Amino acid sequence: MGHDLHGAGRSSFDLIDAELLFSGLALRPGSTFLDLGCGRGNYAIAAAELIGEAGHVYAVDAWEEGIEQLKSALKDRGIRHVSPILADIGQRLPLEDHSIDVCFAATVFHDLVRENVHHQALLEVKRTLKKDGSLAVVEFKKFAGRPGPAIEVKLSPGELAAILAPHGFFSRASTEIGPHNYLTIFGLL
Ligand SMILES: C[S@@+](CC[C@H](N)C(=O)[O-])C[C@H]1O[C@@H](n2cnc3c(N)ncnc32)[C@H](O)[C@@H]1O
Repeated sequence: MGHDLHGAGRSSFDLIDAELLFSGLALRPGSTFLDLGCGRGNYAIAAAELIGEAGHVYAVDAWEEGIEQLKSALKDRGIRHVSPILADIGQRLPLEDHSIDVCFAATVFHDLVRENVHHQALLEVKRTLKKDGSLAVVEFKKFAGRPGPAIEVKLSPGELAAILAPHGFFSRASTEIGPHNYLTIFGLL
């Protein structure tokens, strides 16, 4: 990778209300779910349980240790419908065109912005999403202090929507999913 990898080893999963998140995502049995910047795969495993073996989860991260930990968690639990993928989100992903129902990025998008790979990442999201698919982004509320990165790096819902709009994404819904985080769900024009 030609840039520093931010956020490796950190997860927002224990900060958020998973019930609120997944009710917002409206995953169905058989859905395909792409977890961009999956880390150790906490969200990917939770999504896999909801969509069942008729569906599939693709979990992408460039952090090798996280991908290895996800592989062993999947083996321990006997989960076969999650594919861990070691890859840079700033490059073309090994995924079929228009194959994903929900593309998901939890506390990752601000990292892609500071790595300046977010435009390429959004091209890949557009290429891989089904026509009626959604992009679901979890970010930190824009407050000073932890958890999350420095306030200048945090993205407000308005800043996030303004970055995605030129790529044809519009906000379908935005909601708080815990004291520190919000979820915005985008569709494609
Ligand atoms: C703050 S962690 C969030 C992990 C996970 N979404 C969670 O909340 O449990 C950000 C993740 O994005 C990954 N990441 C950052 N930039 C990346 C890139 N360009 N390609 C692939 N993964 C990247 C990091 O390795 C890290 O695992």
